[in-house]
Amino acid sequence: MNTILAKVDMARPEAMETIRQAADILRAGGLVAFPTETVYGLGGNGLDEKACEKIYLAKGRPSDNPLILHIAQQEELNRIVREIPPLARKLMDAFWPGPLTLIFPKAEIVPPKATGGLDTVAVRFPSHPVARAVIRAAGLPIAAPSANSSGKPSPTRASHVEFDLGGRIDMIVDGGATEWGLESTIVDVSVEPPVLLRPGAVTQEMLEEVIGSVEIDPALLSKPTAAVKPKAPGMKYTHYSPKAEVLLVKGAEKNVADTINRMAAAEKAAGRKTGVMATEQTRELYHADVVLSLGSRENPAEIGANLFKILRKFDFLGVDVVYSEVFPEKGEGMAIMNRLQKAAGYHVIEAEDEKRSGI
Ligand code: TXA
Ligand code: MG
Repeated sequence: MNTILAKVDMARPEAMETIRQAADILRAGGLVAFPTETVYGLGGNGLDEKACEKIYLAKGRPSDNPLILHIAQQEELNRIVREIPPLARKLMDAFWPGPLTLIFPKAEIVPPKATGGLDTVAVRFPSHPVARAVIRAAGLPIAAPSANSSGKPSPTRASHVEFDLGGRIDMIVDGGATEWGLESTIVDVSVEPPVLLRPGAVTQEMLEEVIGSVEIDPALLSKPTAAVKPKAPGMKYTHYSPKAEVLLVKGAEKNVADTINRMAAAEKAAGRKTGVMATEQTRELYHADVVLSLGSRENPAEIGANLFKILRKFDFLGVDVVYSEVFPEKGEGMAIMNRLQKAAGYHVIEAEDEKRSGI
């Protein structure tokens, strides 16, 4: 299949031609990737079983992992959900359009293919002008998982989508780099109290300011087990990751650097290519083959925006093992650590004090 690549700048009049073309493809049952303010989404008609099937096929996604339906005006919600609980309304008023997905009891019209057979449906109202224009022009709820091959880091650039899905989908609308870089926060409002299923740019603190306390899915920050299964089916997959093995190292800054340098030297000696995910504050401390900075420790938004791009870069450079620093889990840090933990398959070690370890 030939994938159409179209750059779009919403400030220019010819943008509408591209948006119309994307909408036509979606209405005809095809697949179009487009930018949102979080990551690029792979869109298809969310009310059409065949289009949903194509999405699973293109991504290689397990069919029990439900899709998010994207809308461009709040009225569309009434078509696809059975009820809107009062707390959901408060969250919608506070954060829509924006990087927040809500889980509702689903209406009959939504096919089981879109929800992985669940009786609930995930809905998001993105704020990105390109996403909104495409959805509005299509006039349909658009099912859009992240536009990566299943298991890979989500795409934050059109080039990432092209690398993963080029030749497998009809069109990629290139609207530049995404703003947040981590997928939307997911809150289940079909239960009371609401439960945070996936941390994102709308933080626990922000949610609690609007609706009081929010429960946290216990499977969020530790390795899912048979007893503690995540409620968002997609969160159970630990392979969210680059080809390289990823290892998180926590502890005091100096100990982290010493430990990573020691381990990297041993790996290098064994003929493996090593990488470190550092920050502006610490990059000079490391001696691996490739040292990349996620951004400033003082700016978690920057770290979130760069994380997936940097993970992909290590793959591109053929790095075999990547060591990463860890971040405080408050605010946006919760989303960053959730994705890092998944990329690392929950492999975290404590840095050793060089003197104590006697090396
Ligand atoms: O930021 C985002 O949300 C991006 C952009 C494109 O909008 N989309 C995205 O979709 O991240 P995806 O498919 O990669 O992740 C959807 C997550 C999965 O973990 C899935 O299990 C969960 O949402 N989910 C979807 N429907 C659900 C439901 N009814 N109940 C619980 N979890 C659900
Ligand atoms: Mg995804």
